This record gives sequence, structure tokens and C-alpha cells, in this order.
Amino acid sequence: MPLRSQDWFGRTGKDGFIYRAWMKNQGFPHHEFEGKPVIGICNTWSELTPCNAHFRELAEAIKRGVWEAGGFPLEFPVMSLGECQIKPTAMLFRNLASMDVEESIRGNSLDGVILMCGCDKTTPSLVMGACSVDIPTMVVSGGPMLAGRFQGRKIGTSDLWRFAEAYKIGEMSQAEFVAAEASMARSQGHCAVMGTASTMAAMVESLGLALPDNATIPAADSRRKVLAHLTGMRAVELVRENLTPSKLLTREAFENAIMVNAALGGSTNFILHLTAIAGRLGVNLSLDDFDRISAKIPLLTNLQPSGEHFVEDLFYAGGLPAVIRELRGYLHNDALTVNGQTIGANCVEAKCYDPEVIATVDEPFKPESGVAVLRGNLCPNGAVLKPSAATPALMQHTGRAVVFENIDDYKARVDDPDLDVDPSCVLVLKNVGPRGYPGMPEVGNMQLPAKILAMGIHDMVRISDGRMSGTGFGTVVLHVSPEAAVGGNLALVQNGDLITLDVENRRLHLHVSDEELAGRLVHFKPLDLGYQRGYVNLYIRHVTQAHEGADFDFLRGASGSEVKRDSH
Ligand code: FES
Ligand code: MG
Repeated sequence: MPLRSQDWFGRTGKDGFIYRAWMKNQGFPHHEFEGKPVIGICNTWSELTPCNAHFRELAEAIKRGVWEAGGFPLEFPVMSLGECQIKPTAMLFRNLASMDVEESIRGNSLDGVILMCGCDKTTPSLVMGACSVDIPTMVVSGGPMLAGRFQGRKIGTSDLWRFAEAYKIGEMSQAEFVAAEASMARSQGHCAVMGTASTMAAMVESLGLALPDNATIPAADSRRKVLAHLTGMRAVELVRENLTPSKLLTREAFENAIMVNAALGGSTNFILHLTAIAGRLGVNLSLDDFDRISAKIPLLTNLQPSGEHFVEDLFYAGGLPAVIRELRGYLHNDALTVNGQTIGANCVEAKCYDPEVIATVDEPFKPESGVAVLRGNLCPNGAVLKPSAATPALMQHTGRAVVFENIDDYKARVDDPDLDVDPSCVLVLKNVGPRGYPGMPEVGNMQLPAKILAMGIHDMVRISDGRMSGTGFGTVVLHVSPEAAVGGNLALVQNGDLITLDVENRRLHLHVSDEELAGRLVHFKPLDLGYQRGYVNLYIRHVTQAHEGADFDFLRGASGSEVKRDSH
């Protein structure tokens, strides 16, 4: 098969001159343009995405591998989303970044591409964009941070939620809080727990888009660069084999990713991102698939936020290959991966070196994992809950609703000493969905009212149309669909309504009659946040609901890699 890049660099006459001449200002000799596979290195380096701030150095390791294998590496930047920096939420821009990635790959002289992913949204946005082009693609993740150390113990992002509670009730001083910040993020890399970034890194490894161990080698470990180097080498072969994402990301690969995620107790954000990726490839993945496919998988790893250890510990214990090996009785072991071998063959020699971190299927860390997909009149199109991060005693619970109409209302009233709330209540937060916020932020694990925390209580049933950080925990119902902003029944909940959460029977029920709800709907007014122009206007008009992955309706599917016109 002729190389795609030769349609740029292999031209004679004026077009060839234009496509090569300006590239030569970088000092590339002419022979680089004469038929070497061109490997794009799609870099999300940014000082505003601190989890990816080491990517310039990591890109050099990838390039060494590409050169060594006879390829021609060309690095390019794309929009980078720093989870903890960008307002109002990085999720608002995931689809925008995916468009940047898609068009940057398609429009340029690339035969293959290596996606450099790290902080939460940088993985799905790059994978979504690349899948819509479908040239040979590999992922190199940036790797997790080393676990933090604070006051004599290990800490990670999940401790932030505990520290914030302690601070709120005066158990932690401002000075201690500041010291904890520096102690937590003490090395390069993304969040050190099984939050969304590590969930995404595990997702690409279990989908077969990355080399084994991509998910867990710490960012600061020199073996991360070795993996990058080997990925660069392999990408050149991948082009020769024309092994594209659509050949790897079959229904079976998606099912494998769902099962591995369940064994890890990965983030609920996994559901949104995997659904959006599947949508780009035309693989039909429904919310119920996540529940059904993960139902039989126990929690194998003892990692925060569902357990106690850190992602670096998972690497030392044998990494994702050891988890995959343990799951071999469940997985589609013959699913092909990007190194040309099946996922089963890749992990056949993997061993667990620390049963404290990776348990066995026979004696799992917790019997129930994965995601529970709830249905009922409060969420006709579904809602999700992560059982491994919830309180068992609350998974069957009926309580009186305490309603917050939006995030501002929540912030203004949650700590009011006069708030009519007790620990048996159900906190309901509206208008934090894809359109309502907009951008579906990670506020679903809303902090409990100060007076409840002061009672020593750390969990209550919470319900919203928003998301939760992958580092968060609690009995938290998320992704309620349809969301409040489009007139879902969530919008109609009133203070004092009774709500039943019944995880075992996958039910979420609002004890209000259909007639009463119809009466309330008459008074419902669609939200107008006043976004008249620009990207946010486009977003609100085209974002799909949570159960569909919150991608844009017009981005579903792929357009391939062909470009019919030249630039001159
Ligand atoms: Fe970047 Fe957690 S903030 S991965
Ligand atoms: Mg996050």
C-alpha cells in the first residue's frame, strides 16, 4: 500500500516543492521525504495541564524509537485540557479537543500517529479524534505520579476530599492544607490513584491501543521512557501492517475494557468516554452493556478510591498484565492488540507479586464492582452508581429529598445551619448535566452539609445529572438522564419528595405520581444561560445526553483519512 504521506512529500512539481520546502527549514535532509513512514506525535504537553508537563521529554523518547525503526517522526501540539485548571470544566472542551485532533491528523502528511495522553480528558479526546480518521494509532500515557507523602503517610488525590472535609469542620489548619498540596503532587505524572486518568490509561491498554504496562509505569520511572521508545519503534511497523483502530477496537475489545475497568474499580467517567469512542467507530454500546458485562467481574485491585493503594503499587505488583491474566476466564483473550499479539498472549507470563494489591478471582478484594445502571421514573434513560465506592448500608435506602436547583444554590445553602437536613435525607442537585452547567462537571459527589459532617457522618445518598471525579467516592448517583435542563423528571423533584435507591434491583424511584409530575412539568422553564455565541453555544445545541456519551451529535462516526483537495 502506498504511504499516505507520499501524497504530500512524494509529489513532483509545484505541489511537492510546497509540501517539502518549508519542512526543510527544520534541517531535515531530502531523503527523509522519500518514502519513510511518517509518524505524527500528537502532544498534549502544556504547563496548564500539569499532569502532562513532562511530555516534551517523553516525546523525545518516542522520536528515538521512530528514528531507530526507520520512520520519520513529526511532533505536533493539540488542545490540552488540564482537569484542575480549566473552567468551568474540562469536560466542556473534550469534544472540541477531539475535533482539533481529528482535523490535525487528517489534514497532515501522517501515516501513523502516537497519541500522548495523560490528564483525564486528554485520553478520550485524542482517541475519539483519531478513531474518526482511522490511520494506524498507538497511545503512550504519561504515567501516574508517585504517591504523595504527608505527615508520615502516603496520600493521593482521593485524600483531597477527606482533607476538604477536615478543613471545613476545623480539624485541619490552612497551613496544613497548603503543606498537603505540595506533598500530594510531588512528582511528574497524573493522579496517583485509580482516578479517571489512570482509568483511561488502563482503558487504552485493555482496548489494545497501547503496549502492555502503559497504564501503570510511574511517570517518574525510567521505564516510562523505554515504553515510549518501544512505542515509537512499533508505530513504524504498524504503518507497514496498516493495523488501524477500527481493526483493533471491535465489540470484543470494548467488552474487555469494560471487564478490566470493573476489576480495577475504575472511574464512572469511563462510561461516558468509552461510549463516545465506540460511537466514533460505529460500535453500538449501551449503558446496560456496562452493567451486564461488568456484573460478573469482582473487584481485584485494592486501589484508592475503592481501596487503599496507589497506581504505582499496582505496577510493582505486576501491573495491568497481571490483572488481565487473572481475568483470563472472562475476557476475549484472542482480541488483537497494537503490538500484533492478542491480549491473552501479551499477558500469559504476567504474575502477581503482591496479593495485597492484586487479589484473585476466587478471593477478590470485593465481590461487587463495575457500575450499577439504575432505572426508574427519575432516570428513564439511566443513571449510574459505582458500588465499590459506595457505602453498603446506603445502597438500599429511602429518604426525603433536599433539593438544590443548581450549583450556585447548593454553594449558597449547603452549610446553612438552618438547612432542613438530616443524615437520612437524599441530596439532589439539578442542572449540572451536559447542557445545564454546561459541560457536566465533577460535582456529583457534593460535599455534605457542615452540620452533617460535624456529626461524624461522611456519606449520604446524593443524586445529580453531573459527574464525579474518578478519585471521588460515596453513595453517589450520577449521569441522570435525561438531565434537568432538558426537562427530565430530575427537574421536577421538590423538597420533601421521597426517593428510593435500590442498587440491588437497579432502581431509582421518585415517589410522586405521574399525574403530579405532569402537573409540575407545566411550570418547567428551559434553562437559558445566555450563551449566544461561540463554542459553548455550539456545545449546548449539539451535545448528546450522558447515556449517549455526551459527544456531539454531528461527531458520531468517522470520516476516514482521505482529503480530496490540496492546499494550493
Ligand atoms: Fe490531571 Fe488528576 S488532575 S489526572
Ligand atoms: Mg477528573
